[in-house]
Amino acid sequence: MKVKVNEVELDLKPGTSAIDAVFSAGDDVPYFCSQEYMSPIGACRMCLARIGAPRKDKDGQWVLDEETGEPKIFWFPNLMATCTTQVMEGMVIDTRSEPVKRAQNSMVEYTLINHPLDCPVCDKGGACELQDRSYEYGSGISRFEFDKRHQEKHHALSELITLDRERCIHCKRCVRYFEEVPGDEVLDFIDRANHTYISSEETGLPNNFTGNITDICPVGALLDATSRFRGRNWEYHHTPSVTMDDATGSAVWIDSRTGRIERIKARLNPEVNKTWIDDGTRFGHEYVDDESRLLTPLIRRGGELVPASWDEAAAFVAERLSGMSGKDVGIAIRADSTVEEGIGALALAEHLGTGQIDHAPRHEASVVAPLAQRATLTDLATADAIFVAGDVTEEAGIVDLRIKDALKGVAPPELMAHGVPIADLRLKERQPRDERMLTVAAPYRVDLMRYAGVALRHAPGQEASLFRDLEAALKGTTTGGDAGEARAGETEPSGHGVASSDIRTAAERLKQGERAVVVLTGAVLASKDAATAALAFATAAGAKLMLIGPMANSHGLEVMGVLPSHANYAYPAMLETAKALVISHLDPAQDPDIAERLKQKDMLVVHDSFLTETAAIADVVLPAKTVYERDGTVVNLEGRFLKVIAAPVEGGTSEDLTGVVKRLGDALGQRLEGRSVRSAHRVLRQRMSIDLADLPEWGEILDVKPVTPRRDTSAPAMAETVKRRGGNVVVTASMVRPEYAYLNRHLLAERGGPTLRVNPADAQAHGLTHGDDVRLRVNGMWRRATVKVTEDAPAGLMTIPATADQPQGLAHADLSTLAVLREREAVA
Ligand code: SF4
Ligand code: FES
Repeated sequence: MKVKVNEVELDLKPGTSAIDAVFSAGDDVPYFCSQEYMSPIGACRMCLARIGAPRKDKDGQWVLDEETGEPKIFWFPNLMATCTTQVMEGMVIDTRSEPVKRAQNSMVEYTLINHPLDCPVCDKGGACELQDRSYEYGSGISRFEFDKRHQEKHHALSELITLDRERCIHCKRCVRYFEEVPGDEVLDFIDRANHTYISSEETGLPNNFTGNITDICPVGALLDATSRFRGRNWEYHHTPSVTMDDATGSAVWIDSRTGRIERIKARLNPEVNKTWIDDGTRFGHEYVDDESRLLTPLIRRGGELVPASWDEAAAFVAERLSGMSGKDVGIAIRADSTVEEGIGALALAEHLGTGQIDHAPRHEASVVAPLAQRATLTDLATADAIFVAGDVTEEAGIVDLRIKDALKGVAPPELMAHGVPIADLRLKERQPRDERMLTVAAPYRVDLMRYAGVALRHAPGQEASLFRDLEAALKGTTTGGDAGEARAGETEPSGHGVASSDIRTAAERLKQGERAVVVLTGAVLASKDAATAALAFATAAGAKLMLIGPMANSHGLEVMGVLPSHANYAYPAMLETAKALVISHLDPAQDPDIAERLKQKDMLVVHDSFLTETAAIADVVLPAKTVYERDGTVVNLEGRFLKVIAAPVEGGTSEDLTGVVKRLGDALGQRLEGRSVRSAHRVLRQRMSIDLADLPEWGEILDVKPVTPRRDTSAPAMAETVKRRGGNVVVTASMVRPEYAYLNRHLLAERGGPTLRVNPADAQAHGLTHGDDVRLRVNGMWRRATVKVTEDAPAGLMTIPATADQPQGLAHADLSTLAVLREREAVA
């Protein structure tokens, strides 16, 4: 479709908006209300242009200009909003003539009438769309001689977001965002004309993706409360990295200043997170600067941990190691360690000759699917049938948003010369979502069930039998085995408690999909039996698979082979068997029984950013960089290799694992592989033919075969424990990492501590009230949580978030230890 923008001829696809035509031509037009990935609504009238087009006569022939003989251009009588105008054959768009300039000038003046112009004290100053557009398109002179409207300037929409109502220019981006992206209409305009203001429901912002409105607000009306008044935009160091809070690999900006992380913002990755991130990723960084951060190594001398240099600490470890057999040493690293850190840990294990190496948390089932079976996030967003098992919203928030994309039936837009289209005319306000294509299964009510045509609430621990019945329904057969008395085709519920009619409907809907995707969370992958049944169901349905690992680099560490050589060497089995341990970012001593055993070890080396309970009983504590301070690579749930870049954060002498391996190697007189990112990349090139030197900006899905096929390395101890004790609590995923919950003060104030969800009847039976801070032992480990009384929790069953040391699954809560801590101080 031929279109002319000023003097530039373009060939564009039908359906393109005129504003995108202008940007494609390399030209500019100001705008406020349009926003990538949201509906264009023509609200701000800032993008006006003079638009004309040729016409055909009643015989279907172009009406010709008498002078030129070319098709005659008929100009629209008024200037048009380019964001809501679709290009047509022969259209001419003029953004430079006098009438257009006058209109732009007037609209800037109009928009500024009631804007306070408090740029010198506004956090958005220097990165404000209104500021920029006023410079570019305003007259530079104020004719306004009256008092401006005054509205509330510090309205807390939540503990995380502050609204300055005076600054709002009524672009409606924030209102549309909630309805169109996460799907909750929680903001709206109140009142009329210049009295209009933004407000939320009285309950605040009940949503897990609230922070994105601070990114898209074109002015400083909506601000991230964690960074408010902390710096000017030009002072920030912007580090392009990816989230380490979940397995999605969402792109983020880490904004730091004077060695502190001030804020996290979403960064564009059209293939992963578009321009959205969840609140856990955005607001979960405050712990990094906590004053309790470890900045220097510690060595136990005379029973006390005392500060030491790295050379002293490394020499201490090397000396102890030389006195023991290397194969007795266990190495356990957290599953958000980078690929390069994994290579370093493997090199250390290889040097010591030990097979006792593992990453944790790690599901019993593999999180790596063959490439042919694997669904990308784009596959998910364009799927026509989706089956989700578990609470994907809490586990990998962006997956939730991409599922909601799919329900709208609008494929992600193609990139244009200027990138993502500014105004995708296929998107509409209140666009219906086709809920029939979504099935969600979980043992308790999860958020995504609100959008599911079929919601299967099954008995906890019965995932395997549910999937076997689903597969049987798909094949039109009946099932035997452990599904209970009932069979598919019968109306009575079976052992999992789901009616067979619902099972048939769910199976049928997935089977009918031509682009079906099955998403398996930790709720299924935590059990090999359930995962096997789920894979069989997905295969029978011809669906692609999305397997969500428990942490940011679970996939990468598994592919690299950071796995034990035998089931008895798996973490937590190695906590029993190894004579010495090197533990990175894990805290098993939260279980007092395990703590006692750790105290008996010949050597305990802990690499962590804080003096955890395990660090407190260690022989040597090595200060660790947090996830924001490391360079390296992670592999997300698609198998996409993504670059992680370290933000300049003041972390004392902290090292990541590659640094630890270098220091220990030097003390041992060895140049270990994986002693730096470069060294790890050399190993990958040589051994796996992977070149990570030039990863594209948005990452790359590489078909890497796991170094060692996944052996049966699951630790049976945990499963046996559950069987023996029975389960009264489901350990679930959480968008907010429980490890640092009490150090992220804004998140803590907004959401409370990790949540213990309890049914109202159970709460009454245990004397619990909503909001209570409690302490109890779950599978032996002391946990702290804030009670949430909700009908979503089934009677007799509670839920509590998983940690790195307490993976997902059914567990036993010792209710005799359930103590309510009425005072916050008591918790601290
Ligand atoms: S608060 Fe910001 S995003 Fe929302 S309508 Fe006002 S200017 Fe637009
Ligand atoms: S009217 Fe606001 S961008 Fe077009």
